[in-house]
Amino acid sequence: AQSDYFFVGGNWKCNGTKDSISKLVSDLNSAKLEADVDVVVSPPFVYIDQVKNSLTDRIEISAQNSWVGKGGAFTGEISVEQLKDIGCKWVILGHSERRHVIGEDDQFIGKKAAYALTQNLKVIACIGEKLDERETGKTFDVCFQQMKAFAGRLLLLIDVSSLVDYIVTNMVVNWDDVVIAYEPVWAIGTGKVATPQQAQEVHVAVRDWIKKNVSAEVASKTRIIYGGSVNGSNCAELAKEEDIDGFLVGGASLKGPEFATIVNAVT
Ligand code: G3P
Repeated sequence: AQSDYFFVGGNWKCNGTKDSISKLVSDLNSAKLEADVDVVVSPPFVYIDQVKNSLTDRIEISAQNSWVGKGGAFTGEISVEQLKDIGCKWVILGHSERRHVIGEDDQFIGKKAAYALTQNLKVIACIGEKLDERETGKTFDVCFQQMKAFAGRLLLLIDVSSLVDYIVTNMVVNWDDVVIAYEPVWAIGTGKVATPQQAQEVHVAVRDWIKKNVSAEVASKTRIIYGGSVNGSNCAELAKEEDIDGFLVGGASLKGPEFATIVNAVT
């Protein structure tokens, strides 16, 4: 990993209160963060405004989800336009909790990513295999399939079924606006982190997939970050791997000082 390339996201998931978030923000505001590293935090929707109004501009804000198209009569959803309106620069899409707990499928996630990118909301695109898939040797197949659903919408690798789809897929996409997060499901929230070698192996395979299916240039510049039980003690070893370009952190991102340690892991 290189420091001028490193990207660390804190995914707060469905955690926090006004008080706990105000404490976390003040810890982040006073933390010393390595200058070159891109840092993003992702609060629950209802606290984004509070965070935006109190957090240093040094840290960008991401949403944890977004609606698949333009807002309107979609009860309970939050649109890309609204996220941009309150100052979000990023959105996390395809997180395993949305895939496997809420039931979002590849096609829906790919569509969300394409729409967000057309509106200039940058995307943290999550992929990753479940334990049984790893144990049956399907890790790469699962990750490539999920990559195809993200990239396919952008590259016309899959069928275009309507005019709206056609317009969305043909918008020029800036791959600088996409960060890939490899999060093996068995490592998320379990305390069971992937070994640096396990993560590196998948990151290399994903980079190679991008090279073959998008371009060598995009493959070399796209950040592929790792998520799954990253903490202040294991981050430095993981950051040494050449193809680990940062982290997406869950539990440990709720503690300001530990999150700062993870941001600075690359130095
Ligand atoms: O998106 C981050 C994530 O799913 C990892 O969570 O708690 O294992 O760091 P955690």
